[in-house]
Amino acid sequence: AKLLVLHGPNLNLLGMREPEVYGHATLDQIDADLRARTEAAGHAFDSLQSNAEHALVDRIQSARADGTALILINPAAFTHTSVAIRDALAAVAIPFYEVHLSNPHRREPFRHTSYFSDLAVGVVCGFGADSYRYALDAALSRLAAGTA
Ligand code: DQA
Repeated sequence: AKLLVLHGPNLNLLGMREPEVYGHATLDQIDADLRARTEAAGHAFDSLQSNAEHALVDRIQSARADGTALILINPAAFTHTSVAIRDALAAVAIPFYEVHLSNPHRREPFRHTSYFSDLAVGVVCGFGADSYRYALDAALSRLAAGTA
C-alpha cells in the first residue's frame, strides 16, 4: 500500500527551531526513518513538507488519485486554523493519523483546539520525533490488518 506523510509550516526548521520544545532531530532524519520502516514493511512512502496551506490541500486531493491508503499528518500551526485542510481530508476520505512532536494540550490555550482530531483515526502527541514513529507503527498495523 501507499503511505503519505505531510508536514505543515515551519517543520522544515526542525533541529534548530525551539529545540527545547521540538527536539534536535531534523525533518530529513525523521522522514528517512519513516521511509525505511515503511519500505521494510513492504509499502510505498511519500512525504511533503510545505509552509503553504494550498500546497497541502493540493497534495491531499491528489492522494485520492494516486491510491494513497493512509496519511500521517502534522498540520503544525494549521492544526489550529485550517478548515481547508480538514475539508480536503474529509473529501478524499483517506484514513489519517494526526501527529505532533509537542503536547499541544500543555501549551498555550490557542493550541488546545484542533480542526483534525475528531476526524483522525488517532492522535499521537508529546513524544518528540517518536510521535511520528508511534503513529507509523499504528498505521502499519492497520495496513497489516487490512482495514485501511
Ligand atoms: C506542532 C504543534 C503546533 O501547535 C505548532 O504550531 C507546530 C508544531 C507539533 O508538532 O508539536 O508548529 O504541530
